[in-house]
Amino acid sequence: MLPEFFQFHNPTKVLYGQGLALDFAHELHAIGVDKWFLVTDQVIEGLGLVKKVVDSLAEEGITITGIYNEVKQDAEITAINDIAEQAKATGAQGLIAIGGGSVIDAAKAGNIIFSVGGDLIEDFSGAHLLTAPINPFVVIPTTAGTGSECTFISVIYDPVEKVKMAFTEKFTLPDIAILDPEMTVSLPAKLTASTGMDALTHAIEATVGLEWSPVSDSLAFSAIELIFKNIVEATQNGTNLDARGAMLVASNLAGIAFSHSMVGCVHGMAHATGGLYRVPHGVANSIFLPHGMEYNFEEVKDKYAKLASVMGVNTAGMSVDDAARKSIECVRTLTAELNAIDAVPLRLRDVGVPEDGLEKIAEATMDDGTCFYNPREVEAEIIIENIKNAY
Ligand SMILES: [Fe+2]
Repeated sequence: MLPEFFQFHNPTKVLYGQGLALDFAHELHAIGVDKWFLVTDQVIEGLGLVKKVVDSLAEEGITITGIYNEVKQDAEITAINDIAEQAKATGAQGLIAIGGGSVIDAAKAGNIIFSVGGDLIEDFSGAHLLTAPINPFVVIPTTAGTGSECTFISVIYDPVEKVKMAFTEKFTLPDIAILDPEMTVSLPAKLTASTGMDALTHAIEATVGLEWSPVSDSLAFSAIELIFKNIVEATQNGTNLDARGAMLVASNLAGIAFSHSMVGCVHGMAHATGGLYRVPHGVANSIFLPHGMEYNFEEVKDKYAKLASVMGVNTAGMSVDDAARKSIECVRTLTAELNAIDAVPLRLRDVGVPEDGLEKIAEATMDDGTCFYNPREVEAEIIIENIKNAY
C-alpha cells in the first residue's frame, strides 16, 4: 500500500568514481566560485588526503583560502563558530568538507553562520528557518556511514547539556557530493564496521519510518543489499576498492532514503547514549539495531519480512512472522560476524555504559526528535526493556 502523500527532493549532485577527489575542479568552476575554505580533521590531514586534494585544485586555478582541522568526534558548537569566522576572514566564497560525519556536519552547520551570521542555537534551533540559499558547499566523505553528504541535517554536540542537537535546514544540503572510494581506504577496520552499521541502521529505519515512500524504500533496499554483501569484506580488506565503493554508495543511498523517511528509535537510543556516555554514533547504532527492531516488530513485520529477502534469505513458504524474525536474525548474525573479528562491540556494558545509566538513556531517548517518526510510539517505561536487553 502506498502512503497517502510523499515527496522526493534531492538537489545534491552526486558523483562517484575512483580517483574523483583529485579531479573535480571543473565542478567548482561550474558553480562559479574559485575561493573555498576547507574543513577537515587532523587524522584526515595527517594521512595526506587533504594536501593531495588542495594541490590538485590549485593546478586547476582553485584557491583554498584556509583550512580548519580542529573538528573532533561529535562536532561542538565552538567549532561551528570558528569555521564561520575563519572562512569569512579568509575571503572564501564556499566551503569544502573532507571527512566523516562530524566534519561534514560541522561544515554544514558552519555554513549557516558563515553565510548569514547569527548564533546557531539561538537563531536556528528548530527546522527550516533559513529563507534563501546559502554559500556553496561541497563534500568529500572519508567514511561510508553517515550519508551526511546528501542530508540537510547536522548533528552538533552541546558539552554543557550533554546532548546532541539536530539542525534541520534544507538549504544546507551540499551542492556536490564526491564519492571516491580511494578516500576511504585508510579508514581503520573498527571505524569501517561501525560507520557501516550506522548506514545499515539508516537504511533499515528508513524503510519503517513514518515518512517512508516507494522512493526511499528503493534506495534503502539497495543500500541494505550492498551493505550485507560488502561490510565484512570492506572491514577485513580495507584496500578492496570495490567493497569500499559499494559501502560508500550504500551509505549515500541510505542517507538520501532516511532524509526523506527519517530514522526512529534506534537513532533515538543511540543519540541519548552518545550524549550521556560519549559512545560513538555508529557503535551505539550497531548495538541498538536488533533491539530497536524488536521494539517495532508488531507494527512493521510486513516490511521486515521484505527486508529478510533483501538480506539474502529465501523466504518462500515462510509466514510473515517467521520471515520478519529472520531479518532481525540476519542483523544479529552480521554484528556477531563483525564482533568475531573485533570490529564492533555487542553490548552497552562493553562500551563503558553503567548499568545504573539505563533509565537515563530511556528518558533521554524520549526527548530525541527521531522518535516522532518511529512507527511505534516510544514510551520510556516500555523501551527500557529493550535498552536493558542491549546491556
Ligand atoms: Fe546515523
